[in-house]
Amino acid sequence: MKANNERIQKSVEELSEFTKTPGNGVTRLSYSKEDLKARKYIKEKMKEYGLAVKEDGLGNMFGKLEGKMKDAPSVIVGSHFDSVPNGGAYDGAAGVIAGLEVAALFQQNKLTPNYPLEVIAMIEEEGSRFRGLMGSSGITGSIKESDFKDVRDFDGVSATEAMSNAGLDKSLPTYRDPQTIKAFLEMHIEQGPILEENDIPIGVVQSIVGLTQLNVTITGRAGHAGTTPMDKRSDAVMAATNIISKLPQLAINEGNNTVLTVGRLQVSPNAANVIPDDVNFTIDIRSGKEEHILNVLKNVREIIRSYNSSGIKTSVEQRLYIKPKALSEDIHSILSGACANLNISHCTMNSGAGHDAMVFSDVTDVGLIFVPSKNGLSHCPEEFTHEDDLARGANVLYETAKKLTEG
Ligand code: GLV
Ligand code: MN
Ligand code: MN
Repeated sequence: MKANNERIQKSVEELSEFTKTPGNGVTRLSYSKEDLKARKYIKEKMKEYGLAVKEDGLGNMFGKLEGKMKDAPSVIVGSHFDSVPNGGAYDGAAGVIAGLEVAALFQQNKLTPNYPLEVIAMIEEEGSRFRGLMGSSGITGSIKESDFKDVRDFDGVSATEAMSNAGLDKSLPTYRDPQTIKAFLEMHIEQGPILEENDIPIGVVQSIVGLTQLNVTITGRAGHAGTTPMDKRSDAVMAATNIISKLPQLAINEGNNTVLTVGRLQVSPNAANVIPDDVNFTIDIRSGKEEHILNVLKNVREIIRSYNSSGIKTSVEQRLYIKPKALSEDIHSILSGACANLNISHCTMNSGAGHDAMVFSDVTDVGLIFVPSKNGLSHCPEEFTHEDDLARGANVLYETAKKLTEG
């Protein structure tokens, strides 16, 4: 039995209902009401497909199918179920649904593997509330459990407080001994145009870009917009926009597909007739090579520092730093072999987006496949992947999970 296109499509539609912004894309931030509804839905599906459900101290979910071998490490399949604000129905969700579909196929085909199969649905990959890749980083130990209380959202609420407010059990263990993991497999939408433009249904990923994210604060002095002469102002917006206007050129000068984005900007007090005293913005820098990230980072810091004066103070907090990651060559060849056996054409590619797969690659063998994104769009309501493409991806994962759970 192969992946069921209708079942997959139904799950995509049902999961996308859990959004704070109906009619304007999926907005599902970690520990929100929408998270809780999606969480319930995913756990029900896990149980329906014969999996034993567990959560951890960050709210990641695991559904386990025991293997014949006692205490053997698991092959984990899945992705994240949080979203960016006004994002699409597929980023992360498609990978969780593909993991569930793999479990459904194990059940329908009455397979009892040697090694356990686990379907995973992770929180906070996007970092839209707390920090990018937080769920997987908690599992692998790159964020320590003692630090969960120090990871705060933009309103100052910590991850542990937010979990308690949502009624989740923050006292559960989160870190997993890598010895309990045999491999991690993820299907994700490509979020770019290459597969669609070349009419190739599957991309087998060999490496993922490195990235850093900064939170920059510019502090000036508030004052009256009508009565304060122009030469007597410490205007935080003017300093911030002068800085921001210089940043894209740093990535362009660096070249080699280095990219830089200022994606979030908050002005205080944000009133038409008040000179702003505080601006907060994020900077996201990415490249396939660490040296390019580090060069741009150094130049960004220098530019920001040069705006310090008697009236303006700047500060830079590094919220995330993760090196470019190469994925397992062995799993790459198993995934490619599965595509060949299923008669699905595929190509090898690199990822410009960050993924939980890159965090797992520090502790275990990792495989990541991409399925096509319509018009290359993602992180927007128009994000779309055809159910036939999702099903093809699920079949490749199923074949690979079967092989990896055998021996
Ligand atoms: C996740 O989508 C990221 O690449 O930031
Ligand atoms: Mn994603
Ligand atoms: Mn994303």
